[in-house]
Amino acid sequence: MTQTSSPTQAAFELLADTEAVATRVAAIIRHYLTRTADPVLGWATGETFRPVYRQLIRDHRAGAVSFAQAVHFNLDEYVGLGPDHPAAFRTAMRTALFDHVDAAPEHIHLPNGSAPDLDEEAARYEALIKRAGGIGLQLLGIGRNGHIGFNEPGSSFEGRTRVVRLAASTREANRAAFPPGCPVPERAITMGIGTILEARSIVLVATGAAKAPALAAALNGPVSPACPASALRVHPAVRVLADREAAARLALAA
Ligand code: F6R
Repeated sequence: MTQTSSPTQAAFELLADTEAVATRVAAIIRHYLTRTADPVLGWATGETFRPVYRQLIRDHRAGAVSFAQAVHFNLDEYVGLGPDHPAAFRTAMRTALFDHVDAAPEHIHLPNGSAPDLDEEAARYEALIKRAGGIGLQLLGIGRNGHIGFNEPGSSFEGRTRVVRLAASTREANRAAFPPGCPVPERAITMGIGTILEARSIVLVATGAAKAPALAAALNGPVSPACPASALRVHPAVRVLADREAAARLALAA
């Protein structure tokens, strides 16, 4: 089931379930990669994108997509976890996607959360994105509190890549990815909302009932830092894809 309507100026697609969303998001990524001369992809970690990445791996194995020409930037990384830590986003991206496709290792970028000078690292990351020509397609999940990247409620829409303090609810939501006894870091480096809004196109993905209140706030509530994802409504090229559960509280335009 696909219903295309527009609760905001963002293009909106309602799909039946997680797998239907994954199939569609993977198709958007494939299309971008195969039709763009110098693709620069902005990736997100997390549960939302696992089925998308599984689909992309299947597509790659079937010869339908190559990542070899692309430059890759992830949204965020925890502060204080080494690159090989099992819960680091670098590890998560390797195991969920990069180890299974032909992405060039030298073109895979995540903020280094264990850099000695984190402010310098944030500035380096911003410069790297600029040098690559900016992000062409940015993928975003949404936090239960409306965060995008790790820009928690209250984050400025002009924010750049920087160190942030994670909300208690975000740390709780992500706890399952950490080995027993390993605390969830209190801080992360994230692209800012200003950085994200400079992407030429953006795909926001929401699946599951837990995301329904945040998605409704993002698309139907005020455009305000109280809901960071609402910032996307000022961007000219945003697509929002949701399954029925995540869309349950949306006021959909007819
Ligand atoms: C991940 C990220 C976060 C997640 C969000 C949803 O790189 O920046 O904003 O997209 O927390 O996470 P999941 O998909 O695990 O529900």
